[in-house]
Amino acid sequence: MKISAQELRKAWLEFYQSKGHTDIGAVSLLGDGTTGVLFNVAGMQSLMPYLLGAKHPAGKRLCNIQGCLRTVDIDSVGDASHFTFFEMMGNWSLGDYFKKEKTAYTVELLTRVLGLDKDKLCATVFEGNESAPRDEETAGFLLGLGIKKGHIFYLPKKDNWWELEGTVGTPCGPDNEWFYPIDPEKKDPVFPDDYVEIGNDVYMQYRKTKDGYEPLENKNVDTGFGFDRMLSFLNGTGDAYLTDLFADALKLLEEASGKRYADGGEDRRAMRIIADHTRTAVMLIGDRQSVLPSNTGAGYILRRLLRRAIRYCRALSVPSETMLPLAKVFIEKVYGKAYPLLLEREEFILDELQKEIVRFEATLAQGIKEFEKCVSGLERKNEFMKKSDPAYVPDKTIGGKAAFRLYDTYGFPPELTEELARERGLTVDKAGFDEAFKEHQQKSRVIEKGEAKGGLESHSDIAVKYHTATHLLNAALKRVLSPDCNQKGSNINDERLRFDFNFPRPMTEEEIKAVEDLVNEKIKEDIPVVFCEMSLEEARKEGFVGVFDSKYGETVKTYSIGDFSREMCGGPHVARTGELGQFKIVKEQSSSAGVRRIKAILLFP
Ligand code: ALA
Repeated sequence: MKISAQELRKAWLEFYQSKGHTDIGAVSLLGDGTTGVLFNVAGMQSLMPYLLGAKHPAGKRLCNIQGCLRTVDIDSVGDASHFTFFEMMGNWSLGDYFKKEKTAYTVELLTRVLGLDKDKLCATVFEGNESAPRDEETAGFLLGLGIKKGHIFYLPKKDNWWELEGTVGTPCGPDNEWFYPIDPEKKDPVFPDDYVEIGNDVYMQYRKTKDGYEPLENKNVDTGFGFDRMLSFLNGTGDAYLTDLFADALKLLEEASGKRYADGGEDRRAMRIIADHTRTAVMLIGDRQSVLPSNTGAGYILRRLLRRAIRYCRALSVPSETMLPLAKVFIEKVYGKAYPLLLEREEFILDELQKEIVRFEATLAQGIKEFEKCVSGLERKNEFMKKSDPAYVPDKTIGGKAAFRLYDTYGFPPELTEELARERGLTVDKAGFDEAFKEHQQKSRVIEKGEAKGGLESHSDIAVKYHTATHLLNAALKRVLSPDCNQKGSNINDERLRFDFNFPRPMTEEEIKAVEDLVNEKIKEDIPVVFCEMSLEEARKEGFVGVFDSKYGETVKTYSIGDFSREMCGGPHVARTGELGQFKIVKEQSSSAGVRRIKAILLFP
């Protein structure tokens, strides 16, 4: 091994510290809710307010190594390069240095510190479009630093522009991506086929608006180099699992199964999946915000990962309890030093893992039997039909009701049923599943009674009015201050509404007045408040905002006020905004770091 995980961590942090950066450490894996993104998918996510201009207490030069979690690629985990959890090595300039220093730092780190050959480095920069110019500036600095002219490529937005997909009000900008030959010995490698991307420097100087981009006051740098990938790349392993992050885990799985990772095939795939998902589970349960298996939000993702890992334990013919010593390896040998909280919570993590294993094991075997029954039923039907009609096209779909039964009775996440089906060349009737799910939900509606409703303490007429006023206020803040302002808390009684939202500084007199005026204008317009139930997916597509924490296939209640406000919410609300009287903000104060609190009243003539 050329470089260990420990050494790479140290190299990154010490290099940027030597350039005046403060190591700010890692934050929770969970996103803070401001963007609607459930997990941190990039190191910059928790730094968003500062990239947008707020002052960071640790200064203008920051670095860290941040855990990230991406679930979009969950089905690709099992190959040589995908993970759900991974770490991102990052550093930032918050309106301090820009392209000249950044290009120099990256080249120095990659060549002098990490030993890469400057003559082999390739870089891509933004080719320019109507939002931002062609990045000749960065290309110029790269040339000056000795990167070969033929190794610098201009690429379009889809390659060299970085932003958080699906968000508004977030910082973004053109980026400079770094590439190195997969096989450094290869003669005349061709870009990009023979290269691997090792990281990128984003020049965050724009803010994403609803329909375009606007310049930020600060010119920032946001750097991200994938830790796991870099480690395997520097060690020339060609397989991202063949680093010291996974060495002990794979050894343990080999010993438990009597199979060899090097033999490849389905066993190797299973080992990767079990190892990846166990690592992610350890990080989620051991997170400072401790995620536990459940049927909603982050807990549901964790449950899905664990249940998938358990199934692959069976495929590898090891008991699913193997995940416990495996988790221990990650906690004690691999991550304990960088994440001391894991060591502190070791017992708790193992205990929660064990509980979920026991819960799922109890029903898994039965569920698989049930699934097999569905498959043989389908085969029998197909044989029978074929006999009476040779032209009959065999049915290759597991019915929605059957899939729902597997979910409801045997705890099979629908994705698991789909995966089992796929392995047999079958599909699942998803629409049928959703329908069965809905039907079931309607039946159990009764249970919902008594649930807290949108922060309302009482359902008096006046409280209902304050509730609708809260929606108007929420929408007005987004218009006047920033589309990035989101509800952080709400409390209503018969005297006033109280509303917490993220915003980095006190509001000015003018802003308070503008928000009041806008709300009062909407009250005067006497707009009908329209209720509608729809699927969560539809609601999101239609731009309804709300708490993104939901069960698969859930239907949500939505309220819209013209095209001014769209929220997912349990209600109740007034029929028309004209009922609200006059809206007045009586207090604007700090609630907690980065969160403001407004108290407002309604006056009735
Ligand atoms: N935000 C950039 C990334 O995630 C650095 O790649």
